[in-house]
Amino acid sequence: MSGYWIGKIFYHEDIRDMGSGNIGTTNAFRTLGVKAGIVVMILDIAKGTVATLLPGMLGFHGVNPLIFGLVAVLGHCFSIFMHFHGGKAVATTAGVMLGYNWQFLLVCAVILLITLLLTSTMSLASITSFVLGTIYSFFIGDLFLSVICVIACAVTIYAHRENIKRIKNGSESKIPFGFPYWS
Ligand code: G3P
Repeated sequence: MSGYWIGKIFYHEDIRDMGSGNIGTTNAFRTLGVKAGIVVMILDIAKGTVATLLPGMLGFHGVNPLIFGLVAVLGHCFSIFMHFHGGKAVATTAGVMLGYNWQFLLVCAVILLITLLLTSTMSLASITSFVLGTIYSFFIGDLFLSVICVIACAVTIYAHRENIKRIKNGSESKIPFGFPYWS
């Protein structure tokens, strides 16, 4: 749980008591600053990538690597170290896709960035990229990838349930750039 530990060790703060209360990249940027945000993002992405690639590198080829990636995502979102609470699956799922199919990740990242620029709302951009990425996965002919995407999409929508309420009532926090700031 990198956001938690970076906050504790280097800032003597519990990130769960700050900002949105999430332990993820967005809240690390928001509450701990750019350096912490970058480190948390890299570590959370690496968690997904290592989980996806390491078994194969160690010669374990009997199970689709996405299964290991999914376990990392579920462990990140429902951590046994945090009473089955945790992050919102975005960076860790990106790491899984980086290890499995970087071209697919690129498409999802472009969707996320476009939505972020249009709305300045990270949670909405994350959810949009998961939903459209899942739909897109059905067009690339990898059924296993699609199944994992459907599960990850459901997990991230559930993890963003408070964000969704705030988006609906107009109180969701925004990042300080993007189209809403140009107009
Ligand atoms: O990284 C998760 C993002 O989609 C939302 O984070 O902190 O605004 O709830 P946050």
